[in-house]
Amino acid sequence: MKASTDTITNVWDFLADRFNTHKNGNEIHPDAAVNIFIGWPIFLDQMEIQRKYLGTKSLEILDFGCGTGKFLKELSKKGNNVTGMDKSNKMVELSKKNASNGIKLYKEEEFYELVDRGELQNKFDVITSMHVFEWIEDINSTLNQLSSILKKNGIFLFAVFPKKHIIDSLRIQDLFEDFDSAENPSVGYANFDGIKVQTFIRDAEFFDEFFRNSNFDKVLEFYPPYSQYFLKHYKWTGSLYPEMMILAYRKL
Ligand SMILES: C[S@@+](CC[C@H](N)C(=O)[O-])C[C@H]1O[C@@H](n2cnc3c(N)ncnc32)[C@H](O)[C@@H]1O
Repeated sequence: MKASTDTITNVWDFLADRFNTHKNGNEIHPDAAVNIFIGWPIFLDQMEIQRKYLGTKSLEILDFGCGTGKFLKELSKKGNNVTGMDKSNKMVELSKKNASNGIKLYKEEEFYELVDRGELQNKFDVITSMHVFEWIEDINSTLNQLSSILKKNGIFLFAVFPKKHIIDSLRIQDLFEDFDSAENPSVGYANFDGIKVQTFIRDAEFFDEFFRNSNFDKVLEFYPPYSQYFLKHYKWTGSLYPEMMILAYRKL
């Protein structure tokens, strides 16, 4: 049974081009470039720390909501065993086209079938997820299912929009709209040039509580600043408040 009760099935198919991280540098949309230049380096550093912590050469990694798969390739190049899954079949197709040999890719239905059959139980050393959890309404079931496939001492490493970024974006009328509150936004929409996706904003305390109750230790809370290179090269016009809250928790 799939975890998400999201009714906007495959709206992400229409956004595959915007988030296509395989394009040439100049053609990459700033919304995707921010993941590449601001988020991925932090994720890769944390992965190196986890590799040393576990004393292993190669990590078993799931990228949940892998998009078009460029990050899977980066992880695989570093000698890890890599699996990707995405809700959008179009994203999975692009990932399959672009990914190197040995990377496993699953569509949503296939993935949750394996989870339900227990075939991925305690499999992963790391589950990464870059800007995915904020599109999921019933996040507790997703996190519970993902927790079950993480090994003891494995880490969850993910990025979501911080609340301050949304407050400021609403003020400057960039990307986000129709939120329940301007001061304490929790549910609203991201409007990607007419393609509207429901967005759920949760602060660090929400995730801290979930993971504390699920017997995880907190490892990281970080709000990476934009680099000068990114701001100039991609002509970023969005909020200057960090657009990522990166959190990590270790399973005890
Ligand atoms: C903003 S994109 C980020 C893609 C990728 N993580 C990256 O860094 O390039 C969000 C991704 O989350 C995926 N997604 C949305 N809801 C999802 C869900 N319930 N389960 C898995 N993936 C989901 C979308 O299809 C899309 O590929």
